[in-house]
Amino acid sequence: MSETAKPDIATCPLHQINAFDPAILQNPYPYFARLRAEAPVWRDPNTGIVSISTYDRIVEANTQPAVFSNDFSAQLRSGSTQAMDPDEAAILSKGFPVTNTLLTADPPVHTRYRKLVSKAFTFKRVEGMADYIAAVAHRLIDGFADRGACEFKSTFANHLPMTVIADALGVPRADMDRFHEWSDAFVAQLGGISDKATRLDAAAKVVAFQHYFVEKIEEKRARPTDDIISDLVHANLAEEGDNRHMDYAELLSIMQQLLVAGNETTAHSLTAGMFFLISNPAQMAKVKADRNLIPGFVEETLRYLSPTNNMWRVATRETSIGGVEIRKGDMVLLRYGSGNRDDAHFPQAEAFDVTRENARTHLAFGAGIHTCIAAPLARKEMNVAFPILLERLKNIRLKPGTTISYSPNILLRGVLELHVEYDKG
Ligand code: HEM
Repeated sequence: MSETAKPDIATCPLHQINAFDPAILQNPYPYFARLRAEAPVWRDPNTGIVSISTYDRIVEANTQPAVFSNDFSAQLRSGSTQAMDPDEAAILSKGFPVTNTLLTADPPVHTRYRKLVSKAFTFKRVEGMADYIAAVAHRLIDGFADRGACEFKSTFANHLPMTVIADALGVPRADMDRFHEWSDAFVAQLGGISDKATRLDAAAKVVAFQHYFVEKIEEKRARPTDDIISDLVHANLAEEGDNRHMDYAELLSIMQQLLVAGNETTAHSLTAGMFFLISNPAQMAKVKADRNLIPGFVEETLRYLSPTNNMWRVATRETSIGGVEIRKGDMVLLRYGSGNRDDAHFPQAEAFDVTRENARTHLAFGAGIHTCIAAPLARKEMNVAFPILLERLKNIRLKPGTTISYSPNILLRGVLELHVEYDKG
């Protein structure tokens, strides 16, 4: 092997594999299979990062939030590869400091915000949104049904979740292009592989997001309306023993998470679901023949894609898991995408099967206290949208010559573009 040649992922020793290689991000499954078989808990000697890749071990870690902490943002920043660039810091200083609330917080801080925000996503509230989501889906499809071809992600999948979250937050749909830009900027900051120019651009967009939402916060403070921002601005933390309203740092943190998590993950799930059906004609035929299979298809899509493919934890103390010693401060990657392909939990896990019995036990929404707060909403959007899409975009198929590539992001996985054709309707 020449010095520059890459080791063969199927055969070389695990320590020779760069887990962040763009080729692995494109298709992580051969690497995941080796991790599960050879080292379900694996400390990469090159980075010190501990990967947890089997279903049971991931759940085990998630039942110990006091040991495997979500308060990992500072740790990520202080790592040598992630140290804040002074130019980036200068841009961010024009915005607002943001505090940890949900994803990057531990109890008791996490518990109080989770209680407040979860009111927006109760099962009952989400059930009542079905007709509204259907209307949004139909309106979007009206815009391209006659064309006979489209790029599915940018014409449909991006817009459905973004419209729903913009309406729920109470911000104008007319501003959605900006939300997309800002959401992409947060995603780039979260785990994208980016050069300095991209990072500076992302920082500028984050600051723009903050100023926009501070303005909205002030509007809703003065004139509350029926939406999540108004609810949060006027919510009192008294029940949590802290008699006050939330400040900008808290509100911006929550809105940023709702905007990003509500956008990219659901958009990826809608796009992948369509791709999986188109590329598995037998599964497509089953779903078309029996619409009662839609909920199972939705769960199988979430399992098979795992839009949040990996998620960080940081160890708060010495412990061991799967026989591997964990040190205080260790960065741990929960490999949800791998747990979801674990044959020990999902027989023949590499097969996409809309009738899989235990599909709903997937880890796509995580597990434990940080389980996706808006899972009912994401599920509802998919369950409402797919029957409408299959009804209206007849004989949907991949555009000849289309190649599929996935986002080069460590945390978020999804098909970048899905070019399709269908009979004009
Ligand atoms: C298919 C779509 C979605 C997927 C696959 C997904 C996935 C996830 C996952 C895996 C977590 C847990 C992360 C961890 O283990 O630390 C999470 C948490 C979260 N998600 Fe989602 N999500 C989706 C949609 C949404 C939507 C629509 C929203 C909001 C509108 C949302 C908001 C959040 C928030 C705020 C958290 C943090 C919860 C906490 O830490 O308590 N997600 N999501």
